[in-house]
Amino acid sequence: MQICQIHPLFVGEVSGIDITRPLSPPEVAAIEAGMNDHAVLVFHDQKLTDEQQMAFTVNFGPLEDARGGNITKPEERRLGVGMNDVSNLGKDHRPLERDSRLRLFNLGNMLWHSDSSFRAIPARWSLLSARVVNPVGGNTEYADMRAAYDALDDATKKLIEDLVCEHSLMYSRGSLGMLDYSEEERAMFKPVRQRLVRTHPATGRKSLYLSSHAGSIVGMPMADARILLRDLTEHATQPQFVYVHRWRTWDFVMWDNQRTMHRVRRYDDNHPRDMRRTTLAGHAPTVAQV
Ligand SMILES: [Fe+2]
Repeated sequence: MQICQIHPLFVGEVSGIDITRPLSPPEVAAIEAGMNDHAVLVFHDQKLTDEQQMAFTVNFGPLEDARGGNITKPEERRLGVGMNDVSNLGKDHRPLERDSRLRLFNLGNMLWHSDSSFRAIPARWSLLSARVVNPVGGNTEYADMRAAYDALDDATKKLIEDLVCEHSLMYSRGSLGMLDYSEEERAMFKPVRQRLVRTHPATGRKSLYLSSHAGSIVGMPMADARILLRDLTEHATQPQFVYVHRWRTWDFVMWDNQRTMHRVRRYDDNHPRDMRRTTLAGHAPTVAQV
């Protein structure tokens, strides 16, 4: 197995391995090390089934419990337990209607975010398999939040060092104008606290922990908080910190949510885009909850 860095700051392209079959312990260790070095790993031509994708993922830890992360009801799910559906498809495998609430909710993936930052214990890694690629658009962009942190001036680093943000799906979707939620959804999307600067458990390096789910900062007026978060997000997503992934069918990309943000770009919703994600559970909260 070889890993070739394809961006000046991060992102490794992996070759010489078939991840559809069981991995040996040295292969698992090499991928772990590659993730610590590069934060994003890109594989090509991996014809995974859902079962194989889940089997590959659990080499690195337990899957995240997906409950509470979407408005999809259990009976509306297209994929089995353990798989996150980030396609534009309904249970009938056809593109969702334009005014479908689920489709509109999923458009939130086009805002810069870190997966599951709205959970008290946020996701560690996400792993995405491209089963059907949309013919127009749909690139995924990744931002290196460690490099973005390193590039901040000292005054800003000092200002944000101990700040704690509140994250909720209602903040990211609220910014798109989705303001109506049922009582049950409000309880499910209750804000959680996350440090704004987090330290990577494996490398000990600091990074910005931003996400469109962040909507307030503890002890700061809302408007000040949102301006600061917007400024930091603008800083962190400058082109020099961003890798653009142009999908090919059967690409497989895994990324570390602890030190990257990502977003999907617009695509043609008349055509299917079948992307299937597995998610590795995080180890611990970034800060105590209240
Ligand atoms: Fe995501």
